[in-house]
Amino acid sequence: MNRPVLEGVRLNAPAYVRHARLLSWVAEMAALTEAREVYWCDGSQEEYDRLCAQLVAAGTMKRLNPELRPNSYLACSDPSDVARVEDRTYICSQRKEDAGPTNNWMAPAEMRELLQTGQKALFRGAMRGRTLYVVPFSMGPIGSPIAHIGVELSDSPYVAVNMKIMTRMGRAVLDVLGSDGFFVPCIHTVGAPLEAGQKDAAWPCNKTKYIVHYPETQEIWSYGSGYGGNALLGKKCFALRIASTMGRDQGWLAEHMLILGVTSPKGKKYHVAAAFPSACGKTNFAMLIPPAGLKGWKVTTIGDDIAWIKPHADGRLYAINPEAGYFGVAPGTNHKTNENCMASLARDVIFTNVALTDDGDVWWEGMTDTPPAHLTDWQGKDWTPGIAKETGAKAAHPNARFTVSAINNPALDAEWDNPNGVAIDAFIFGGRRSTTVPLVTEARDWTEGVYMAATMGSETTAAAAGAQGVVRRDPFAMLPFTGYNMSDYFQHWLDLGAKLQASGSTLPKIYCVNWFRKGADGKFVWPGYGENMRVLEWMVERLEGTGGGEEHVFGVTPNYEHLNWTGLDFSRAQFDQVTRIDAAEWKAEMVLHSELFNQLSYHLPAALQATKSKIEARLAA
Ligand code: GTP
Ligand code: SPV
Ligand code: MN
Repeated sequence: MNRPVLEGVRLNAPAYVRHARLLSWVAEMAALTEAREVYWCDGSQEEYDRLCAQLVAAGTMKRLNPELRPNSYLACSDPSDVARVEDRTYICSQRKEDAGPTNNWMAPAEMRELLQTGQKALFRGAMRGRTLYVVPFSMGPIGSPIAHIGVELSDSPYVAVNMKIMTRMGRAVLDVLGSDGFFVPCIHTVGAPLEAGQKDAAWPCNKTKYIVHYPETQEIWSYGSGYGGNALLGKKCFALRIASTMGRDQGWLAEHMLILGVTSPKGKKYHVAAAFPSACGKTNFAMLIPPAGLKGWKVTTIGDDIAWIKPHADGRLYAINPEAGYFGVAPGTNHKTNENCMASLARDVIFTNVALTDDGDVWWEGMTDTPPAHLTDWQGKDWTPGIAKETGAKAAHPNARFTVSAINNPALDAEWDNPNGVAIDAFIFGGRRSTTVPLVTEARDWTEGVYMAATMGSETTAAAAGAQGVVRRDPFAMLPFTGYNMSDYFQHWLDLGAKLQASGSTLPKIYCVNWFRKGADGKFVWPGYGENMRVLEWMVERLEGTGGGEEHVFGVTPNYEHLNWTGLDFSRAQFDQVTRIDAAEWKAEMVLHSELFNQLSYHLPAALQATKSKIEARLAA
């Protein structure tokens, strides 16, 4: 095989790399970006430790106190680079209609000119003075028929170590890829070339950012950010935006969903996949610990953020978690609300943008009732409860995160790694709504469920740059992650349901939940977290045909009597606050559904319009 020769920089490919297209692509990208050198990640522990030590030396990360937090690090980002940038995220399909009205779009040729081919293309020389890390990764178990391989080229060693935790990464992936296997090329630069003698920033990045997807050629190009979903390209870019287009073409689903196993006291196990928007409770729900009053129930985690769901020959939908780790929200996580998560974080963690305690451990808002007397905040400044009271300064950034391997999770499901996945019994969709949307509703059929998911609204969170707390429509919790036209995506869900139904199989039930209704005092009324088990128990009862419920304008909801209140003091009045369906609020809500449907009118499935008309007629009656 001819090995490509690079001018001025050696490709450094280990002998085990036998893939000609990969080698020539790496050579081409190294030449374009003018990387100083190329390093091929093998995914070993030795390599992880070495890169972490290098990140510590560079000032990007601090090693935490090994007695308090063994083998763990804290990285603090540039204050301008703290979350996904949805307004800089593009779907560059040939036709604008295929990206649809919910995605930013630019013609592929125009975007390529800007990033790659133009005289002043952003990737030209973008890695000058830096190492280009070649990061081969598998989404899903290595070698499994449901897994897909990507290769990320990045000039960020922080990305390389995070990818080691979040995916199956390294040499074993290239062994599977062989000499001509398919992979999705993902290129990432922080966009901060280093000139000779120039001192590097602790968190290099660029004010200009582009997170770009070419669905037809299945490529990802990311420029200017080193943070989370902007930079760890296996996650939202590949496993959702590109994978959703693969799913559309091949008859499966790539979803922003946790997957959990729930075992009843009788020992019967069900599997549930739940889509909540970013920072709306997926990780917490996936690791739920049932309250003492609900003895005998058990919840186990299969995944906490992404599900790939495929129809099986037995007529059921099987889901796998393509990831191998959790990139989870730190603030709000504590021993009371999520003990499984806290236990997962005891060691082997990369924390990003949390606060540092004086003894070299981490802290974030909501970790303890009483904050430490002194901290170094995520921007390296002194922080005390007094300063916080005066200025409102947060010790941890609201989108501060941890990166940790799934195997650290004490509630990890035995099937989490099973290449065949688990059979899904129910789908849950849930937003963050202080008003209007009741605690739980069951759809009467697949189409009504798709309607609920399609029209779901949620208040925006710190997981994305921009205004927070603003209600927006977030269909299927996929607004920022669907790689194609949203109406076509709705149709894909309807088609899949119709196909399974035609084959005679029982479709999963679909539920809509809202843990976030607030009272007049501005506080959440529903206790949430472990207490969400009460809602899950009701769902299982409904699956078994024993759960009670009452039909209303848009589905079936439980009465106070239908939920199990053992061990919880939650009054009828409180229950009413979280379940009341207010006709005036719902008339206003339907206006928002209309606005969404107007925006999505191109290819909007007629079945959804028809469902909407039925709801409106019931509301008017
Ligand atoms: P992404 O990783 O951004 O996709 O977020 P996620 O959906 O996994 O959300 P996560 O579980 O990390 O929760 C986000 C925030 O919501 C955290 O601060 C949690 O403490 C809080 N939260 C989670 N579940 C509940 C709940 O049931 N009730 C309340 N009140 N807050 C919750
Ligand atoms: C989300 O925002 O939904 C996340 C975090 O899971 S990120 O990986 O940054 O997208
Ligand atoms: Mn997410």
